[in-house]
Amino acid sequence: MEDRGDVIAERTLTAVMRKLNRRFIAHDIPVRGFPSPNPGKEYVLYCHVPFCQRLCTYCGFNRFLYNHERSTRYYRSLREEMRMVSRLGYRFTSMYIGGGTPTILLDELCETIDLARELFDIREVSCETSPNHLGPELVEKLSGRVQRMSVGVQSFDDVLLDQMDRYTKYGCGEELFERVRSVAGAFRSTNVDMIFNFPSQTPEMLHRDVVLLRATGVNQTTFYPLMASPETGKSLAHTIGRISYAKEQRFYRILCDELSHDFAASSAWTFSKRGGGMIDEYIVDYDEYLGIGSGAVSFLDGRVYGNTFSLSAYHDAVDNGRLSVSTCGRRFSRRAMMAYRFATELFALKLDKRAFRREFGLRVEVAMAPEYAWLKAAGAFERDDEDLLTLTDKGRYLVLVIMREMLAGQNELRDVMRAALPAEEREMLLDNANAAVTA
Ligand SMILES: C[S@@+](CC[C@H](N)C(=O)[O-])C[C@H]1O[C@@H](n2cnc3c(N)ncnc32)[C@H](O)[C@@H]1O
Ligand code: SF4
Repeated sequence: MEDRGDVIAERTLTAVMRKLNRRFIAHDIPVRGFPSPNPGKEYVLYCHVPFCQRLCTYCGFNRFLYNHERSTRYYRSLREEMRMVSRLGYRFTSMYIGGGTPTILLDELCETIDLARELFDIREVSCETSPNHLGPELVEKLSGRVQRMSVGVQSFDDVLLDQMDRYTKYGCGEELFERVRSVAGAFRSTNVDMIFNFPSQTPEMLHRDVVLLRATGVNQTTFYPLMASPETGKSLAHTIGRISYAKEQRFYRILCDELSHDFAASSAWTFSKRGGGMIDEYIVDYDEYLGIGSGAVSFLDGRVYGNTFSLSAYHDAVDNGRLSVSTCGRRFSRRAMMAYRFATELFALKLDKRAFRREFGLRVEVAMAPEYAWLKAAGAFERDDEDLLTLTDKGRYLVLVIMREMLAGQNELRDVMRAALPAEEREMLLDNANAAVTA
């Protein structure tokens, strides 16, 4: 049974985060470029590839139905945008390619990674993929180019896969298991994305998912709590069911317990094999990132920037020698920067108090007094001394709620951007029946 105090803590935090999101994530001031880079500063390059062969009902990311010509042209523009960013003077050592499904055109992807290596001193590439792309060709072309491969499995349960509309396209649980197992050792880090807290999921179903995940042999997994924006919430209600957070904490405990046999938490929702694995979240490793590609988001010099969502506006900008960035938000105040740092470091499970004080000139207990006091009273901190703040199991769950709401806030913004797309592009968000099936 759920503890009443825990449910109240989750509900309070969710409500506060929803309010804060509206203030900080919004970016609606028109812009036509990025600020100049700070000399000596390290950034991460994010590249967005918004095409998928099926559009999953629960997914609020920026993605369109795949079409060969459209996707080939897109990759070309992405490389052109990369050259523009290089001319601006930005330097990157790390690159994250997300989607959508970046492996949808393998040769185009390889050319894009190779160009990034030519332009920048890239030492580490992370890339997302879908289970139907896992196989010898992907390994042959990407094992020398990608260090962290991440694949979306979501669940090994056939009933849930069917509800997600993934069973037909990506295969039944058994096929997913075999495909993942076949590539488990091919990359320095192989991550499997899972989702928990489906409305019809039972504790037994979740337990079985974790047991199977462990048996695949991968060295990292990310268990996202099911999230919804207002729009995805509506399509979820027809397919997967209505989200309730009542079971979320109990499910989180189940998966943490089962994973603890051979994995250790490396963030509130990522778990790495003991003695190996790297975290795949770019916001954990770097505090500033620059996004290229339609709908990509950047965080630079204390502001959130957004690229145009529309594919035609994207190509129009790049064809005319402009970056696709089109909006930015208000500059984060010092207080907001401290809150951002507080949340992201705790998400990575450890806050370095001395580094925080060096950067902001204030002790974290003073700078973040209400948040710190609330989390302390809720029993979130395990270690709280001069050097470090670390989290208890409950603290990790509360931080997961904070992150869940930060991502849900971004999905809400994407809903707004999608609604503003031209009619012919909105059609590319709809029709699964006509999806090009070219696995
Ligand atoms: C952008 S997707 C890319 C992965 C790849 N396209 C696939 O689905 O196989 C990254 C991950 O986000 C997670 N995700 C997407 N929508 C979600 C939602 N509504 N709630 C929780 N996790 C979600 C899924 O685990 C997914 O694998
Ligand atoms: S979950 Fe992955 S495959 Fe499904 S729509 Fe989202 S990005 Fe595409």
